[in-house]
Amino acid sequence: MSIEIPPGLTELLQGYTVEVLRHRPSDLLGFAADYFARLRDARDQEAAGGGRRVVSFDGEPMQTESNGEEEPDRGDEDSDSDFERESPVVNRYNRRVSVCAEAFNPDEEEEDTEQREQLSQVLDAMFERKVKPQEHVIDQGDDGDNFYVIERGLYDIVVAKDNQSRCVGRYDNHGSFGELALMYNTPRAATIVATTEGALWGLDRVTFRRIILKNNAKKRKTYELFIESVPLLKSLEASERMKIVDVIGEKVYQDGERIISQGDKADCFYIVESGEVKILIKSKTMTSKEANQEVEIARCHRGQYFGELALVTNKPRAASAYAVGEVKCLVMDVQAFERLLGPCMDIMKRNITHYEEQLVAMFGSSMDLLDPGN
Ligand code: CMP
Ligand code: CMP
Repeated sequence: MSIEIPPGLTELLQGYTVEVLRHRPSDLLGFAADYFARLRDARDQEAAGGGRRVVSFDGEPMQTESNGEEEPDRGDEDSDSDFERESPVVNRYNRRVSVCAEAFNPDEEEEDTEQREQLSQVLDAMFERKVKPQEHVIDQGDDGDNFYVIERGLYDIVVAKDNQSRCVGRYDNHGSFGELALMYNTPRAATIVATTEGALWGLDRVTFRRIILKNNAKKRKTYELFIESVPLLKSLEASERMKIVDVIGEKVYQDGERIISQGDKADCFYIVESGEVKILIKSKTMTSKEANQEVEIARCHRGQYFGELALVTNKPRAASAYAVGEVKCLVMDVQAFERLLGPCMDIMKRNITHYEEQLVAMFGSSMDLLDPGN
């Protein structure tokens, strides 16, 4: 008996699968519900409105999971591989999904088609790789062959320097790696060792370079000037700032949306590109009744950063961050933060001591933000 596959089913599931691979949501069902609800809304609006409607997932780059705020991305988008944290498609996850009934725009149309083509090239080229505990996925010093997106498993990042090997970080069931050797034509900069059984999606060097390098060039054009203007990054060399542009992703948040939740595990760092972010804290030093109330302690504007504290101290998020109006942030994952922002660490630590002073002034006692035991 032959089973007929309904028209459109393959494309539908393919689109969803791509979004999952790109954003690696922790809540697959919730992600699916949002994704399909958004698709249905777009279809209903199209039916209701007549004219040509475009579902555009604007934004761009990547990455990422974290905070449990994964966002589905623009299903058709090319660009960024997950390491760039792109913008999701579905909106509860902030990414803007604009459903618009604008007049036909040939440029957009072209861009759309290009992205669709790129995505299908990536999909065709991706292959699954299963790994066993202790397997080396990448060895430092080797030539780069593939880029990998994690489907599941734990992976240590080991860097050998001066004859000493040090585990500098770990991927825990999400993230991606292996982009550096492919982007910069350099030997592998670290060894990646699976510490559990796991599964990866690989993308070959040629496809990766064809698509990612092109998109990186676009990103450089878009973000270069802004990144140059960020005070924190002033002390970096121009080439170091460029590497930051290559790894950042952009996320859009709507008014009131929570960007960071106090107490959450942290895995990324933010720079405000536009709009305003307010930082609120529930203080442990207050009475239990007061402690449930969030108190505003800071605002961040264009060019300012937040979300570094938990990455520097390796502790949960010390405060919550909310969008005030629409906000665009550039986002960097913890691995890139550690790799690229070392030279800015002194400035960040100095500012953290200011947080402490501010909290003492507000609450009357120190919260020992830099104390790892806290
Ligand atoms: P690549 O150099 O191609 O292969 C090793 C990968 O490890 C590298 O790309 C990054 O994706 C990843 N990585 C994560 N953290 C680091 C780090 N601190 N230094 C170098 N590579 C890292
Ligand atoms: P993190 O703890 O990762 O997440 C919440 C962020 O709020 C924190 O990093 C800082 O970037 C930011 N923040 C701003 N002011 C303060 C403050 N006084 N105390 C703690 N965090 C602050």
